Amino acid sequence: MLSKKVNLGQMPAEQKTHALTYGSRYVEQPVPKYTMPKDSMPAAVAYQIIHDELNLDGNPVLNLASFVTTWMEPEAERLMMETLNKNYIDQDEYPQTTEIQNRCVNMLAHLFHAPDNQTGVGTGTVGSSEAIHLAGLALKWNWRKRRAAAGKPTDRPNIVMGHNVQVCWEKFARYFEVEPRYVPLTHDRYVLGVQEAVDVVDENTIAVVGILGSTYTGEYEPIDQLNHALEGVNRMTGWDVPIHVDAASGGFVAPFTRPDLKWDFRLPLVKSINVSGHKYGLVHPGVGWVIWRGEEELPEELIFHVSYLGGDQPTFNLNFSRGASQIIAQYYNFLSLGQEGYRRIMTALADLAGYLTDRLETVGKFHLLSRRGDLPVVAFALNDPSRFTVFDLSDKLRQRGWIVPAYTMAPNAQDIAVLRIVLREGFSRDMADMLLDDLFRAVAEFENHPPHAAPASPASIAVSKTRGVC
Ligand SMILES: Cc1ncc(COP(=O)(O)O)c(C=O)c1O
Repeated sequence: MLSKKVNLGQMPAEQKTHALTYGSRYVEQPVPKYTMPKDSMPAAVAYQIIHDELNLDGNPVLNLASFVTTWMEPEAERLMMETLNKNYIDQDEYPQTTEIQNRCVNMLAHLFHAPDNQTGVGTGTVGSSEAIHLAGLALKWNWRKRRAAAGKPTDRPNIVMGHNVQVCWEKFARYFEVEPRYVPLTHDRYVLGVQEAVDVVDENTIAVVGILGSTYTGEYEPIDQLNHALEGVNRMTGWDVPIHVDAASGGFVAPFTRPDLKWDFRLPLVKSINVSGHKYGLVHPGVGWVIWRGEEELPEELIFHVSYLGGDQPTFNLNFSRGASQIIAQYYNFLSLGQEGYRRIMTALADLAGYLTDRLETVGKFHLLSRRGDLPVVAFALNDPSRFTVFDLSDKLRQRGWIVPAYTMAPNAQDIAVLRIVLREGFSRDMADMLLDDLFRAVAEFENHPPHAAPASPASIAVSKTRGVC
């Protein structure tokens, strides 16, 4: 998040300091917001000031915009508190923490069917964004090596992906100078089209991205078909174009709800996979993972060996220091839930998504863009947006505390505006009923009293881009 330095000279005096409530019993001087206070204050007062201010945040439980975990078991939180003071990178100092990350990587490599005859490799990251940057770098390096070995130019790498990718892919392309080749959506396809993707692949393509759970609609992209089509292209041309799977959300859903769906290392061209531990991995933010099919997919030049903390420490991360507690919490979930626990939770969420979908379809005012059986996400558009829009409905729901984002789809379907409900553990059927009651009440109210004198088009409204929502 970029923050701006405020211009204190132009700011009204009352905005420069905290307006204290309980804290004012103990603090005689105004407490500045934008410069560090000159004096200290009692810990309890500082706590109360910040605690009061945070009341203005949304309620995480009612936040149906985010895929990110908002509830963990008390035992997990206790472990997290106990390990808040451990730095993940201090491998020599905290060898058991390192061992726990190694075990998590192993468990994920097995879950994603990494071949037994290859030594899979992976690392913990801050989230899927960092994981994607690492995977992208490995793909770019591998492509460059192949090209250099063949005596071909190495200056114009590209990566092929649907226009529905999350913003981290745009970042990767820009930060690491890879041309992004976006496959546009259409009015009846909100994910990558296999033939359309294959059509823009060329000898400079470092990879094609397949998303297991589009941020926009929760749909799984047809990764099996993509693998098949790319195998054909590679065979015909002699190229070696691989697939990276962005399983930020689906990597902890599909293995449990659709074990037979082939999207992972069972497909030969899938060389790397990212997954967010803090989404359906059910850990508080931020933890992600990237797993490579075999160690030959990770160029040695990208691995740094540091010795100044004692011993030899191989690392491949964009960050150095970071908290260890999320890694520990991930391991806790793996032990405590096991595969059976994840299956129970993900199946319950899928059932709830089906229930919401049924009820939304029954009223006849919406059409669904999400697909049953993919991510437990319900994305839907108004059949008739002429008198009020999903943006009006989102605002109305916000008045009741629900956070349900409205946004337009990616190009070339950007004239379709949707509401999206992300189901997470902790969201019950009772809450789903209350949410739907509020939604249907808002629809009835707007039908009787349309909020706009003239119909508002999605384009005329400030759009909450889903690429910024995670
Ligand atoms: C498909 C997809 N990829 C990547 C990301 C980025 O994940 P993270 O927030 O873990 O960095 C998201 C976030 O929503 C996502 O939905």
